[in-house]
Amino acid sequence: MARIGLLGLGTVGSGVYEIINEKKGNFFEDDSTLIKKILVSDVTKKRSIEVPKDLLTEDFDEILNDEEIDIVCCVMGSYEREYDCMKKALMAKKHVATANKEIISRHLEELLSIANENGVNLLFEASVGGGIPIIESIVETLKINKINKIQGILNGTTNYIVSKMTKMKKTSRH
Ligand SMILES: NC(=O)c1ccc[n+]([C@@H]2O[C@H](COP(=O)([O-])OP(=O)(O)OC[C@H]3O[C@@H](n4cnc5c(N)ncnc54)[C@H](OP(=O)(O)O)[C@@H]3O)[C@@H](O)[C@H]2O)c1
Repeated sequence: MARIGLLGLGTVGSGVYEIINEKKGNFFEDDSTLIKKILVSDVTKKRSIEVPKDLLTEDFDEILNDEEIDIVCCVMGSYEREYDCMKKALMAKKHVATANKEIISRHLEELLSIANENGVNLLFEASVGGGIPIIESIVETLKINKINKIQGILNGTTNYIVSKMTKMKKTSRH
């Protein structure tokens, strides 16, 4: 059984909620994994999805101090508050999964070390090319290789180009 504290209910958080609690996508078939509490900046805000009111909170301590919650999923997109929440969650021996690029690019080593000290996992696949499972491939499948450098095109740039190509009904072959 896993209980999740979700930080953020925006574009990404709403999708996470629908997949886990509303069973969209046929991935979570029973209630062994559920989101128990959701941190937002304004509990009164009108939302595009319907979520039971008692799940929402503006107080991170409700997630931190809930012993049943063993996983904290960070999709707020804020910097200081999310970084603080992530550290506190790891220190409270909760696993952390994050989509936050800035925090991972600045503090990966520190957060991994706090996770190791507390015997929990820090998962950040979603922060690095979310749709491409590259981190797991590097950590697991490619672990016998020594990778010195990775180069690529920045996410925003490719998204912009792909959107423009779609709008213009062109593909890279034309
Ligand atoms: N959108 C994407 O396609 C995408 C793809 C990959 C990764 N990401 C990453 O995923 C994260 C979330 O992105 P998003 O697009 O879902 O963001 P978003 O739509 O702006 O949603 C942010 C959510 O976090 C809450 N929030 C923000 N700051 C908060 C604070 N200080 N305290 C409490 N709650 C706070 C907001 O609460 P309210 O609802 O009350 O305002 C909102 O529910 C970001 O790190 C982003 O870089 C996004």
